[in-house]
Amino acid sequence: MKFLFCLLTAFVVFPSVAQQVAVLNSPNKGIQLSTTKNAEGQLLYQVQLKGKEIISPSSLGFVLKKPAMELKKFTVLGIDSSAVSTNWKPIWGEVKEIANQYNELVLHTSSNGILIDLIFRVFDDGVGLRYYFPVQANFQHFIVDQELTQFNMSGDHTAFWIPGDYDTNEYTYNKTKISEIDATTAAAKEKDIAVTALMGKNVVQTPLMMKSANGFYLNIHEAALMNYPAMHLRLDQTTQTFQSMLVPDAVGNKAYLQTPFSTPWRTMVMSEKAEKILESKLILNLNEPAKFGDSTWIKPQKFMGMWWEMHIGKANWPLAGGKHGANTANVKKYIDFAAQHGFDGVLVEGWNQGWEDWFGNWKEEVFDFVSPYPDYAIDSLTQYAQSKGLRLIMHHETSGSATNYERRMDEAYQYMVSKGINTVKTGYVGKIIPRGEHHDSQWMVNHYNRVAEKAAKYHLMVDSHESVHPTGLHRTYPNWMAAEAARGSEFNNAPTLGIIPDHTTILPFTRLMGGPMDYTPGLFHMSLNQFDSTRTQKVRSTLAKQLALYVTIHSPLQMAADLPENYEAHLDAFQFIKDVAVDWDDTKVLSAEPGDYVSIARKAKNKDTWFIGSITDENARNVSLPLDFLDAGTAYEALLYRDADDADFEKNPEAYVIEKKLVSKSSNLTFRLQRGGGCAVVLKKL
Ligand code: NOJ
Ligand code: CA
Repeated sequence: MKFLFCLLTAFVVFPSVAQQVAVLNSPNKGIQLSTTKNAEGQLLYQVQLKGKEIISPSSLGFVLKKPAMELKKFTVLGIDSSAVSTNWKPIWGEVKEIANQYNELVLHTSSNGILIDLIFRVFDDGVGLRYYFPVQANFQHFIVDQELTQFNMSGDHTAFWIPGDYDTNEYTYNKTKISEIDATTAAAKEKDIAVTALMGKNVVQTPLMMKSANGFYLNIHEAALMNYPAMHLRLDQTTQTFQSMLVPDAVGNKAYLQTPFSTPWRTMVMSEKAEKILESKLILNLNEPAKFGDSTWIKPQKFMGMWWEMHIGKANWPLAGGKHGANTANVKKYIDFAAQHGFDGVLVEGWNQGWEDWFGNWKEEVFDFVSPYPDYAIDSLTQYAQSKGLRLIMHHETSGSATNYERRMDEAYQYMVSKGINTVKTGYVGKIIPRGEHHDSQWMVNHYNRVAEKAAKYHLMVDSHESVHPTGLHRTYPNWMAAEAARGSEFNNAPTLGIIPDHTTILPFTRLMGGPMDYTPGLFHMSLNQFDSTRTQKVRSTLAKQLALYVTIHSPLQMAADLPENYEAHLDAFQFIKDVAVDWDDTKVLSAEPGDYVSIARKAKNKDTWFIGSITDENARNVSLPLDFLDAGTAYEALLYRDADDADFEKNPEAYVIEKKLVSKSSNLTFRLQRGGGCAVVLKKL
């Protein structure tokens, strides 16, 4: 590492008084990180944005279980700094090129005789920090009991949070002051989640989004989660300080490590503008580049699925019971419809033996992933799909038995390759058996990463459900295209809280900070009693909003979730789903406020066409979007798929209007979003 002392101010540390250790600015000098050492020997960091305190002095460290010791007091042995400014091109994503520009500070320290580097990277839009344990004499293997990284808040901000839970992130978001966080009460309202392991009243999950009264936005999360448990945050209400809380394994340990080891980055994305939080590439930049040589086999896709009809009771996963959805004739119907409308894939769930007994019995050997049901002619279907220019997408529900999946992964992936199937949707419904690991534990984090690595060896793309919150690892594993890892559209069918209209305006500021989500938008039939009259729940969204979600929720794997017959009823609106891109050259967040509204414009990969998605919460709003991102000197046709004037997510959700406008770079595009509504726009050069 280069010494660039011009970047930082380093100070000599005197005992007994709080002393500056080093100060480092972001490249544009908007953010300042300072590190100090207090009288007790603790190292504190603190962050300012344009002179406003964002992170008040916060301490660092660990409690180790083995060897049993505290790493709380640090002696600074040396200080390095460097400046980095590079660009890189993601294989797919929201923009075609990403600038990676930051100043780095490394404090080489020793604590209780253990060598630890504290590494800080200061970007123009935030700060990342991690710990590095170098190879050293007499300290090689260690077990982490607690990580003590603090995030001390400078005020009682408004927070957007979900309860801390070792096993699931599929919660409704809560919006409260920090001082009003109560995860126990919030979780008690949730009746629709199968397996939970709540972490207590004061624990919330990351990404945690906050807004201060004095005008800044702050998002706390992590990047590059590898060989370590997920970080949740425990709040000390009296000091408004969050502290890292790691998910334990089955016997209560957090992480088994060996030197050299780098922890994941702890990330703080900050801005005075909400839009800039959504445009941040800090988390991706803190992940390692992909090591794949050839990546031409990785392809963004739009798919349909033999899926929603099982969730709403038309069909079912098991063969037994007489409603088996994954039968040859039904899947052929999906292939025909998807091929006719230009889709890339058809997901099939319930194709393999085991669904009679998959849930609640916590058995290890439920699925083998290579045994289709007798009424599912996989060979002829896969050939039929390929003859029509698309592929089947295979579902691997592990029913929580990740060890069973690990044992069978090679055989299962070879089977996929032999059938010409190149995308797998994995799932981890239920308790992780046999040892009782949690979904967000170190062992499971390693499992998800092993799946991505092994799938890459077979040139397979992965879409994981019930997996840990993403942390930008799609840079390292670009074949791990998407994850669920939050409350997705399937919860529209849940009997209690379901999906409330502001959910999708919070997702970009929370779950999506870590990476693409398989939300599965595109529901057109909002009453879910179509095949089962006992279902009273409804999709709480207008149809136009369902279209807009294809732009506001980034994913290179986008599903058109509804049934062919429901699309047949609105083929003019379906045209937007057919046209919308899934890979982008550019993205502009036009206006956004967590919990209220989001408007995003994206330019399709290698095309001049832009798409806009604009969504609102339960309130109607007039929207006016400047189109100054368009090319100068050209007229564009704007095709709007908007809420009808009488649309309303509760009373009239399926009412929409499709209209054309002539616009240019100097135009403002205006439309009205109705309650729970949205607008999807295609902008084409004339
Ligand atoms: C939960 C997944 O999120 C959903 O998409 C899937 O259909 C079911 N599990 C069954 O595996
Ligand atoms: Ca799920």
